[in-house]
Amino acid sequence: MADTLEQARLRDSFIKEELPKIKIEGIDVDKVYVDKIIEKAPERGKIIDIGTGNAHIPVKLINRNRNLEIFTIDLSKASVRIAKENCSFSDKIHVLRADGHNLPFRDSVFDEVIVRLAPHSIKEAYRVLKEGRCYIHRACGIYNCWKEIHEIFGERAMPYATAEWWKTSEGRLERYEMRGFKIVYEMSFLVKKYYTMDQIVMEMKFNPIVRDFDPKKDKHKLKELERKYKTKWGIRITGDPLILFARK
Ligand SMILES: C[S@@+](CC[C@H](N)C(=O)[O-])C[C@H]1O[C@@H](n2cnc3c(N)ncnc32)[C@H](O)[C@@H]1O
Repeated sequence: MADTLEQARLRDSFIKEELPKIKIEGIDVDKVYVDKIIEKAPERGKIIDIGTGNAHIPVKLINRNRNLEIFTIDLSKASVRIAKENCSFSDKIHVLRADGHNLPFRDSVFDEVIVRLAPHSIKEAYRVLKEGRCYIHRACGIYNCWKEIHEIFGERAMPYATAEWWKTSEGRLERYEMRGFKIVYEMSFLVKKYYTMDQIVMEMKFNPIVRDFDPKKDKHKLKELERKYKTKWGIRITGDPLILFARK
């Protein structure tokens, strides 16, 4: 499920150019995520971001605190290439190609492990974290952040929603406790976003939101989405993002 170069470039331009234009009704959860990472990290903390994509979160973090040291990893060669370009301004961000299920680091070396919507192993996250330190996972709840897409595309929506690293079923917090984490809790949100159709299609091309998505073959579905959910601000997409915290 690692990104191709085309997907990685699309993601990069979507995050830089389109995301800031999308109207949000509710809390800006990614801002809360970044605030919490900064709040819980020591002043000169060492952080790992697993499945970093284009490293847009590490860039935000280093701009908030230049004393942090961030190791940022992704399995996709393409994402690593773009992440390196985006982080070239700082010698405090190290970009590596690695698998979130098998981290190339010794035990207990990080002050924080962070993950935003990416495959990884909870066991590995626990292993590389220092005692008493925090793992912070930005995930989604039962709608998987795309409620209206689910309604229109049915079981083709979110093929990765049952993956271990994403699973939002009951027992999510207990899974972390079973791995040894001591304090586990989460903040959950309900957010509405208003997209143009072009923005939805663009995001569906680089994020596996719908299995085998093809804008041409799926044009009737997209029309139905527009007809049902178009508002004066754009096409409404309801999400239930969450931020999970687990302390070792
Ligand atoms: C939905 S994107 C999220 C990217 C970034 N965290 C963000 O929030 O923009 C998922 C990322 O996980 C990466 N990925 C997929 N499988 C992985 C694995 N086994 N280990 C590390 N990264 C992986 C993909 O290449 C992609 O960049």
